Amino acid sequence: MCVKTLAASDKLKELVRIKYMIIKPANLLRGTLNLPGDKSISHRAALIGALAEGRTQVENFATSADCASTLSCLHQLGVGVEREGKTVFIEGVGLDGLRQSNESLDCGNSGSTMRMLAGVLAGQKFTSTMTGDESLSKRPMKRIIAPLEMMGARLEATDGHAPLIVRGKRPLNAIQYETPVASAQVKSCVLLAGLHAGGKTSVIENVTTRDHTERVLRWFGVEVEEEKLENGATKLSVEGFQNYKAQNLIVPSDISSAAFFLVAASCLKDSNLKLNNVGLNPTRNAIVQTMIDLGANISIENEREQSNEPIADITIRQSAIRNPQSATLRGNVIAQLIDELPVLSVFGSQLENGLEIRDAKELRVKESDRIATVVENLRAMGADVEEYEDGLHVSKSNLKGAKVNSHGDHRIAMAFAVAALFAEGETEIIGAESVAVSFPNFFELLESVIER
Ligand code: S3P
Repeated sequence: MCVKTLAASDKLKELVRIKYMIIKPANLLRGTLNLPGDKSISHRAALIGALAEGRTQVENFATSADCASTLSCLHQLGVGVEREGKTVFIEGVGLDGLRQSNESLDCGNSGSTMRMLAGVLAGQKFTSTMTGDESLSKRPMKRIIAPLEMMGARLEATDGHAPLIVRGKRPLNAIQYETPVASAQVKSCVLLAGLHAGGKTSVIENVTTRDHTERVLRWFGVEVEEEKLENGATKLSVEGFQNYKAQNLIVPSDISSAAFFLVAASCLKDSNLKLNNVGLNPTRNAIVQTMIDLGANISIENEREQSNEPIADITIRQSAIRNPQSATLRGNVIAQLIDELPVLSVFGSQLENGLEIRDAKELRVKESDRIATVVENLRAMGADVEEYEDGLHVSKSNLKGAKVNSHGDHRIAMAFAVAALFAEGETEIIGAESVAVSFPNFFELLESVIER
């Protein structure tokens, strides 16, 4: 692997800007890694800590650029934020303490920042403007505009896209809202807005999505009711204006970052890789069971709870990957695998009977159109792939090194860095710097466990 262009990043000085990366095949992965903190949990710890009374300490806070966007927006809203290595301190201002920012709030590439922070801003007495980069400005925002307007806030967007102007209302109207898309960001947006509403706000989700907001709120002592409905849906409710105190948290390593190593080590003969302290929240861990079902050799040890989240150490050994019948991933599990589908598609290219992914139309509105970018890059590497509106089918393929393009999407860059390890010849990844969005030291950690 070699870094081709190096220059200081404007926004995050500590990040190295890498324009493209050449990756050579590897023999195996061996060693033990401590991966960076979970991005989803870090966003929530920062947002919920900011609305607490007192100083919250978050250990192993994600190093991702996305979470840095959340911190810088909170700072602009009058929240004290300090960073010492992997620990972040948030000076909570309470439910009444945010101040209007004179400047617009730059959410960068982060959909989580824009959608969840909009919920908080909707319940303020002031108006805020949120902007995003080119990719974020193309992502759908009507899904949060609709419930926030039902709660009484006024939002302006351009055909449902950022920049977003949020004209807050305080208190908001409490509502009951059934989410039309399976999205933890939408659910979280409404619950965070519900903290600023008069009465009880409920969100009904028909498909279970990641429950970190509920867990982090409860860790801070906020009551979140959960009710299973007869039709199998889940109703989550919060009473408005529950004042709460600061709390310390330790963030687990990010299972979505671990996924790249699970696939790489599973596909490289004689690999033996251990990942410590990985978050195994039941609404996020479907990647592990899915890979085991497809024949991967993954063992889980030292299962425990940390700051209201289940964690464990994971060991991956290469196995003779089998899938006697052709496998299809579809239905409700898709929401719980959503960020892992690009790398699972790469995994599919190594399975005896390939892999089909359906019901995954949401992939088209992620940081890139992930169905199109996965199909394009798999084909560039010589794989036999069929594209569907809601997914893809990949057959077992001998991958060849090629020029692949991340299209500025971090998970595409990392998925194809993994593919490059078991391809024949060198692979060039264009837009490799995008890994910083979720995993700035991805290439360094990967290099540290490669044996060639
Ligand atoms: C996230 C939820 C998912 C996921 C994203 C992080 C979260 O998005 O893809 O990377 O932290 O809530 P959606 O809510 O849009 O499905």
